[in-house]
Amino acid sequence: MHIGIIMDGNGRWAANKGFPRSFGHRKGAKRVSEIIKSCPELGIRTLTLYAFSTENWSRAAHEVSSLMRLFRGYLQTKYLDIINNNVKVKFLGDTNPLPTDILKQMQKLEFQTKDNDGFYLNIALNYGGRDEIVRSIRKLAKDLLSKDLKIDQINENLFHNYLDTAGQSDPDLIIRTAGEKRLSNFLLWQTTYSELLFSEKLWPDFTPECLKKSILEFQNRTRKFGLETSKIEKLINH
Ligand code: IPE
Ligand code: IPE
Ligand code: MG
Repeated sequence: MHIGIIMDGNGRWAANKGFPRSFGHRKGAKRVSEIIKSCPELGIRTLTLYAFSTENWSRAAHEVSSLMRLFRGYLQTKYLDIINNNVKVKFLGDTNPLPTDILKQMQKLEFQTKDNDGFYLNIALNYGGRDEIVRSIRKLAKDLLSKDLKIDQINENLFHNYLDTAGQSDPDLIIRTAGEKRLSNFLLWQTTYSELLFSEKLWPDFTPECLKKSILEFQNRTRKFGLETSKIEKLINH
């Protein structure tokens, strides 16, 4: 099972307690570690976390730099933990505008975990669904010009290979916390048939128990993929 999480509500969590927003982000990062640890026993094989959107650069400069500091610290402190737990890490998004030292840490982590296969962790950092599609089209266009790829060969399967999530299954479930009911540019291509689940909990309050409840709710949903109901019943019963 592949789950994507839009981790929202850190700022509100901090404001409710009279703390600066950066404190909420720190609490949110602690939650990330707990949630990752709980995944294998919940049957989650791939987890995609939305950490920073292409739109988040528009926030106040001090908030952006506190988030970058947090990513830097997180990558440093969790590095060995990730490598030693058979986790394969993939970063989704446009890496170009990120600070060079963070980018180096990201590349090192991806390289060191490339052969791991116990659990797949995607971290969407400077990620936007539209940006991903545009970057993919650019790569595809380059191949049209330089390789013997023909326009008629372009189809959904081929296009998938140009996305940041190339080779991965689409998310079965997208969870968004903090009561907002939108995708905010998260995995636009890949969420075509994902189930969407909205939790009122602010991200720093979203425990592994909340994740477990979300999965139970997901298991009660009927996915139809455009088929007529009778076919769905057959699929479920066989
Ligand atoms: C989500 O929490 C974290 C990021 C977007 C990086 P927010 O910072 O959006 O928290 P709210 O929505 O302001 O409460
Ligand atoms: C989405 O949250 C991005 C991340 C969780 C990283 P936002 O808080 O940025 O989304 P909007 O602005 O409420 O749509
Ligand atoms: Mg928000």
